[in-house]
Amino acid sequence: MELRGRDFLSAGDFSSDEVLALFELAKHYKERRRARQGHEMPLKGKTVAVLFQKPSLRTRVTFELAVHELGGYPVILTQAEVGLGQREAVKDVARNLDRWVDAIVARVFTHETLVEMAEWAKAPVVNALSDLEHPCQALADLFTLWEYWGDVRGHHLTFVGDGFNVAHSLMLLCAMLGTHCTVATPKGYEPKESIVRKALELAQKSGAKIVVINDPVEAVRNAEAVYTDVWASMGLEAEAEKRKHDFAGFQVNEELLRNAPRNVVVMHCLPAHRGEEITDEVLDAPFSLAWEQAENRLHTQKALLAAILGGE
Ligand code: CP
Ligand code: NVA
Repeated sequence: MELRGRDFLSAGDFSSDEVLALFELAKHYKERRRARQGHEMPLKGKTVAVLFQKPSLRTRVTFELAVHELGGYPVILTQAEVGLGQREAVKDVARNLDRWVDAIVARVFTHETLVEMAEWAKAPVVNALSDLEHPCQALADLFTLWEYWGDVRGHHLTFVGDGFNVAHSLMLLCAMLGTHCTVATPKGYEPKESIVRKALELAQKSGAKIVVINDPVEAVRNAEAVYTDVWASMGLEAEAEKRKHDFAGFQVNEELLRNAPRNVVVMHCLPAHRGEEITDEVLDAPFSLAWEQAENRLHTQKALLAAILGGE
């Protein structure tokens, strides 16, 4: 696996072999942590800036802990302090950080901000969520399924909801790994064409079937995992009321799941808007993997950081 120094802006950035190697490493870190065997420290002496333009629980905690447990030092920065693109130009923030830290992890409003940071910083840049993708989430999600099913190739994940950042990264990573992926959205909320095109290209090599439809019932019929995300993402709160109306019929509830195979599992990146895209009974069910996904953010991000920053 040669990931040293690489950016991770898109779930399609690493090859399937590289992703599977990250899964093996994440499993190793997870087992060591659960057995309280102490931490390996491939990031000893390294620093990582973790910058947030939007709120976060999971990403904030798991990146801070990941850097700490790997022996590095995390510098957590919020938009209120940094004013990325407001107090200071994006490229200037990137060039400053580049003089001090070994990697930059950033959650931004527009994906172009990340691309610009990556252009101006020699240090690797990691996408901690943008309006286009959430690749660290997809990495944890496919790892969760890889552990649960024993493999992901040839299995089937269905996403029901908004064809936005989380759906985009899931489609790309499924396509890369040979996992069939169906995305069901209301009309007008389909995933971006450029992402669908890229997923179809990747799928040609891996054998994954990638399908985008507008019928949630049809979408879950052969699903082994049903995944959903909020209807109004961060930054789109003003559309929340309109979206509640547009997404009627796309709630992941027991009625919808009656159309799915009996052993189906349910996934959510969290935070959940209970009673909107998912019901309490489904999110809290024994077949919900949401909490495992959240835990796995830590292990997979440790693997990611060790791979792009570890050594010497
Ligand atoms: N799933 C996720 O990224 O959660 P946060 O927004 O809390 O980081
Ligand atoms: N699509 C959601 C994901 C949150 C982790 C958002 O962008 O707000």
